[in-house]
Amino acid sequence: MCGIVGYIGQEKASDVVIKGLERLEYRGYDSCGITFYNPEESKFITNKDTGRVAKLLNDNHYPDNNHLAIGHTRWATHGVANHQNTHPHYSMSERFVIVHNGVIDNHKELTFKYLHDYEFRSETDTEVIVNLIEEFAKKISVVEAIRKTISLLDGSYALLVIDTNDTDRIYAVKNKSPLLIGESDKGIVLGSDVLAFVNYADYYYLLEDNSVITVERIKDKFVFEIFDTIGLKIGKPEKHPMDFVTDELDKAGFEHYMLKEISEQPTVVRKIMSEYMVDNKLRVSPDIKAMFHQVERVYILAAGTSYHAGLIGKIYFEEIAKIPAEVFIASEFAYNEPLIEPKSVFVLISQSGETADLRACLMNVKEQGFKTLSITNVPTSTLAREADATLNIYAGTEIAVASTKAYVGELAVLAILARSLSIQHSLDLVYEMSRAAVAMENIVDKRDYIHEVVQQTIKGEHCFYIGRGIDYFVALEAALKLKEITYIHTDGLAAGELKHGPMALIEKDVPVIAIISQDHINNNTRSNLEEAKAREAKPLVISLENTSKGNDDIVLMDVHRLLSPLITIIPAQLIAYYKALDLGVDIDKPRNLAKSATVE
Ligand code: G6P
Repeated sequence: MCGIVGYIGQEKASDVVIKGLERLEYRGYDSCGITFYNPEESKFITNKDTGRVAKLLNDNHYPDNNHLAIGHTRWATHGVANHQNTHPHYSMSERFVIVHNGVIDNHKELTFKYLHDYEFRSETDTEVIVNLIEEFAKKISVVEAIRKTISLLDGSYALLVIDTNDTDRIYAVKNKSPLLIGESDKGIVLGSDVLAFVNYADYYYLLEDNSVITVERIKDKFVFEIFDTIGLKIGKPEKHPMDFVTDELDKAGFEHYMLKEISEQPTVVRKIMSEYMVDNKLRVSPDIKAMFHQVERVYILAAGTSYHAGLIGKIYFEEIAKIPAEVFIASEFAYNEPLIEPKSVFVLISQSGETADLRACLMNVKEQGFKTLSITNVPTSTLAREADATLNIYAGTEIAVASTKAYVGELAVLAILARSLSIQHSLDLVYEMSRAAVAMENIVDKRDYIHEVVQQTIKGEHCFYIGRGIDYFVALEAALKLKEITYIHTDGLAAGELKHGPMALIEKDVPVIAIISQDHINNNTRSNLEEAKAREAKPLVISLENTSKGNDDIVLMDVHRLLSPLITIIPAQLIAYYKALDLGVDIDKPRNLAKSATVE
């Protein structure tokens, strides 16, 4: 979702910002823009439009000695993706320029109350913020005007603001939307994600909500200061070195990040095993175990792919740990809370750790005094920091919008958590997970075969995945993958439900893909597939060696039945990948989607 980057320093600021925006491209966006100070013309220049960041760089001139810039990638929320709605936005007199990540819920009321004399050039809520700053700055200092403005805003926002009368300062504000500061001897960089700082910062700092930051040049030094919303200076937060592996950010010879990330999944499982191994057993820390002491129910909250991992997490909690569990879509739970048992623990699963729907839930349940545990791929993320405890999934940076390795990472950590909480369960997780990693490798290696299957089977505009029990939950994720990156309408169905409505959509050659990894429901799912075949559907079966029959199309190595989702999802990810490849669509950046959903 929207990404922001700002820079002031000795490097060519437009390059830092544009390279930073490129690093944030994976979040998903439909337009982008930059404002920089052009010393050749002694004025600020703005370039913006729909399309890719590369265009922003290639179609415009940036003088070498520009030292200050702010930029934005926009994922449309208020107003369509067009030139006018693209950030940066100017105030009416063009004194102030702003980029904004987030949503202002009361922008209409604020316009009505304070800005009736203002003309607006876009349909965005952001323009209200920049005009409020302009209005208030007529009577008070700029920083006071910013503080007054944010005191009126309802919603989420990370903002970068430039006063065009001042070529040496950027103002920034963070509330509910992500914003970090990067620092090097050469300058200060601001951005929604630490990835934006690669090559331009040695250290980074995480910011708390309600921080107001000034970044400025003082003589030849570049410094930042952080204040609270009433103007009191806050000490600098902890400094983190930029020591993560930048190799992760390259495609390592793969044509797309998605294929690279699919291929990394066995390594992710092994990495998780090494991180959670204690005395030859896979365990979470005693502190996290203690959170679940006498727990009556676990509530799992998540969105998208992480929600699908949560559904399998429920099975793990109930079957392995014998703790009742419920799973909720975060955006539903946030505003429709069920009746909650007093001794409940909340487990929030999120690859990014920034999903706004989930953060809303976290705030609600924390306020009610419940214990919270986050499971994320980004230990510095908002959810990792704000939950009572956190578990890292160690999947490494996931760049493709369609999540793959984070899903298996979440499943593996959920299994370890459930196993750590179990009093007696025979599951030898070390042995079973090692076997699963081998089985995962085996199917990744056979990816060319999956490509052939795709070319023979996946045709037309509709597709269905079916399964029962744990396979049904995998079918949901499998369907999400296919629809996300191929735009083929795909549903994941409980196999038994096919006949209760969806069967009306089955006609000649519509692919129906059955996932069959569980012995006790093997025949039932096969019967449902027969019913579809009788209506001329094109069947495809993904099974394990011990559930396979006759001519099953994709037969995977046997693994423990509870770990089967780690394996059965891989052919489905590859089916989506190869179909998208054959269709020639933008696999890593599917249309309309955002990697990190930072607005509710
Ligand atoms: C976005 C992404 C999905 C992801 C979902 C939840 O919609 O496109 O791939 O599953 O957000 O993200 P999270 O980071 O919370 O797991």
